[in-house]
Amino acid sequence: MTERTYVTEQHLSRFKTIIGDAYVLYDEDTRTHYGHDETEALSFPPEAVLKPRTAFEISEILKICNKDHIPVTPRGAGTGLSGGALPCLGGILISTERMNSILQIDEQNLQVITEPGVITEVLQDAVKSKGLFYPPDPASRGYCSIGGNIAENSGGPKAVKYGVVKDYVLNLEVVLPGGVIIWTGANVLKNVTGYDLTQLIIGSEGTLAIITKIVLKLIPFPKYDLLMLVPFHSLEKAGEAVSAIFKAGFTPSALELIEIDALRIVSDPEFRTANNTAIPLTEETKAHLIIEVDGNHQETLMTEMEAISELLTHYDCGEIYFAEDEQQKATLWALRRKVAEAVKLKGYTIEEDTVVPRAALPALIKGVKVLGEQYGFHAVCYGHAGDGNLHIRIKKEGTANSREDPEMVKSLRALFKLVKDLEGTISAEHGIGLVQKGYMDIVMNDTHFQLMRGIKKVFDPHNILNAGKIFD
Ligand code: LAC
Ligand code: ZN
Repeated sequence: MTERTYVTEQHLSRFKTIIGDAYVLYDEDTRTHYGHDETEALSFPPEAVLKPRTAFEISEILKICNKDHIPVTPRGAGTGLSGGALPCLGGILISTERMNSILQIDEQNLQVITEPGVITEVLQDAVKSKGLFYPPDPASRGYCSIGGNIAENSGGPKAVKYGVVKDYVLNLEVVLPGGVIIWTGANVLKNVTGYDLTQLIIGSEGTLAIITKIVLKLIPFPKYDLLMLVPFHSLEKAGEAVSAIFKAGFTPSALELIEIDALRIVSDPEFRTANNTAIPLTEETKAHLIIEVDGNHQETLMTEMEAISELLTHYDCGEIYFAEDEQQKATLWALRRKVAEAVKLKGYTIEEDTVVPRAALPALIKGVKVLGEQYGFHAVCYGHAGDGNLHIRIKKEGTANSREDPEMVKSLRALFKLVKDLEGTISAEHGIGLVQKGYMDIVMNDTHFQLMRGIKKVFDPHNILNAGKIFD
C-alpha cells in the first residue's frame, strides 16, 4: 500500500456526516466483533466499522479513504472461511448489512435485482414464492449474504447440477476504490462486449470494487426432488461411486460426501441439531453419500433413483435409506449443513477447500489419509463429492493446531502439492483470502501473479481495498 494513514477524529466526523452518527462505530465490542469471521480464531479488529445504506454513501467514503490511503475491508455477513473479510491492516470496515432489500423480482425475464446484504436464503425464499429458483446454496445460506457469495464465487450442494454463483450473475453495480460507481455489464443472458468485468469482480474477494447492486438470473423451480442416503464400507469406494454415477448418464442435483468421523461428530448429542440421530451409525460404515435428484416428473425421478441405487450396489454400499417426506429431507440436510461448525468445535479448526477433477477424488481421499500418517495429522473429509470438491478439516493432536506452526505449513504444502499433482486446485468455493495466500505459489506461477497484480493496480492504484488478500 502507498503509505497509509490511520483513522483520525476528523475522518470519523466526516464519515458521520455521510452516513449518520449511528452507523459509524468504534467501541471495543463492535471492533472485536467485526475483527473476526468464521475462519479459525483469527482476530483483526478494524479501527472503525461503517454501515452505509447506499452506493452513493460508499462512494463518498471511498473517496476519502482513497485520498488519504486508509485501508478498507468490505464485509458481507462474516461467514467466510478464508479470512477474506478480516481487516488485517486495520483501517475501516464497510459492512453491507443494512443494504438488505430485494429491489425487484422480474417474472417476465426471470431475473432478480437485489442489494448485497440480503441473506441468501431470504432471497431464495422470495423468488421461490414466485415459482423461481436461485440455486447456489452454500451450507451457510441461512446466514451468509448474497454480496459475500459473489465476492467468493460460492458454490454449495446444488452446484453439481446447477453451477455456482458466477453462472447466475448477469450484472453488478459496484463502487470502484476511487469512488466511481459503474455497472459492469448489462441485464442480458449473452454478452460479449469487451472484457467481462462482471465475471472479473465475481470471486475477486472484495479486492477490486465494492458490490452494491446485483442482477441475478433465475430459473423455474423444479417441482419435485428425491433424496437418498447411501452408506459405504470404504471411503474410497464412496469416491469411486461418484464418478460412476455421472458416467452412467445421471446428473444428481446434489451429491455430497460425509466421512464417518465427521458424521460421528455432528451426531454427537452434545452438538444439538434438528435431529442428530437421523443417520444411524454402524461399525462397518466408513462414509455416506447424500444423493438428490430433482425435476418436474416424479416418475422419472423414481426411475432415476432406482437406477442409481442399483449401480451403487457394485460399490460395496450398505442398505440405502430413502427420505420419505419433507421433514426427513430437511433433517438430513440440516445435519449436512452443520458439519463444518460441528467439526470446528471439536478442534478441527483448519479448513481446506480442495478440488480435483471428479474421477481423481478417490486418489485425493487416499492421499489425504497417507499424508496424515506421514505428517502426524488427523483429517476428516466431507463436501461436494459430485464436484470433486473435498472439504478437509485438520487437527494435529498435542499442538495449538495453528497455521503458524511450521509443521502445519509443511503438511498443508504437501496436501496442496498432491491436489496440484491431481490437476486440481487449492480453493473451490471458499476463496484464498488471508489464510491460503501463502500457498498460491503451488498453483500459480510468476506470470499469473504479474497479471493479477496488474489487474489489481488498474482498479486500485493505492491498494486500499482489501489489501493483503489473495496475494501480497
Ligand atoms: C460446507 C461449507 C463449509 O460445504 O462449504 O459445509
Ligand atoms: Zn462447501
